[in-house]
Amino acid sequence: MMPVIARTREEMASVRASFGTLALVPTMGALHEGHRSLLRRAHELADAVAVSIFVNPLQFGPDEDLDRYPRTFLADLEACAEEDVALVFAPTVETMYPRREDGGAEITIDSGALGAIVEGACRPGHFDGVLTVVLKLFNLVRPDAAVFGEKDAQQLAMIRRMVFDLNVPVKIVGSPTVREDDGLALSSRNRYLSESERITALSLSLALRTGARAVADGPGQVVRAARAVLDEAAEAEPPLDLDYVKLVDPAAFHEVGEAFTGHAVLVVAGRVGDTHLIDNVPLVFTRVATPHRPPEF
Ligand code: PAJ
Repeated sequence: MMPVIARTREEMASVRASFGTLALVPTMGALHEGHRSLLRRAHELADAVAVSIFVNPLQFGPDEDLDRYPRTFLADLEACAEEDVALVFAPTVETMYPRREDGGAEITIDSGALGAIVEGACRPGHFDGVLTVVLKLFNLVRPDAAVFGEKDAQQLAMIRRMVFDLNVPVKIVGSPTVREDDGLALSSRNRYLSESERITALSLSLALRTGARAVADGPGQVVRAARAVLDEAAEAEPPLDLDYVKLVDPAAFHEVGEAFTGHAVLVVAGRVGDTHLIDNVPLVFTRVATPHRPPEF
């Protein structure tokens, strides 16, 4: 069945009562199998599933791809119908960011210290824009739960943090990254890649797999192993322009030290041509790596 489509705040408010509990999957459209896996997860969480489709200008920097970001609304609607989505909220920019009558500046969410590191250091203001739109979407759609991909691990960590810090009554659920058979993480931005750029882009997931294989040797070795793959890709044609490769804790995104045990995330980002790509893999360090420990006596 075709989902109900709401385009304005008024339409959204008037249809909300016809659904029971609602699980929301916020997206920027151009839906792919990664998004669809979130929709299937959402069905487990509530009576009905809602999808928001909104390319949020606030989270794009001035030199980023806002204008060329893929907009495929009809195909997205079909995907939503196939996944049994009950409601699509697809507002315009004017609906989400109406001009203030007094001409004053908008009030937005400040993503704080966490928003300024790792991916936030490469994209100043990005996470302020993400958190602002997500909170607005929550207030408009009023979901009971919302599902986000682990693909955007820092985004997920920050949304969890916002919901905790601002007492937002929405249950946040993470869902694992969906990949192509060759390892490339699905992303709406993959369609920008030429054939040769796509081959270079594979270095990101290869670096993560290589790093993950070194987990028993400890955090330092994981990062070194991943970096070796990325250094090679920097010499490829077209080259990978590496932004970062870091091993961080999953909540605060602080880099972890050599002796770290517990859950961590190996995060990587880089540019291939004009396309900014990110990827990550969750890892568990179960013991302090001491490969050169002297025999016990
Ligand atoms: P978008 O890039 O469209 O992603 C929507 C959701 O799909 C996010 O939660 C993202 O983590 C998830 N996702 C993307 N690729 C995935 C993959 N390969 N596997 C699993 N999940 C994947 O992220 C955004 O939009 C925006 O920042 C948004 C949260 C909608 C705010 O504007």
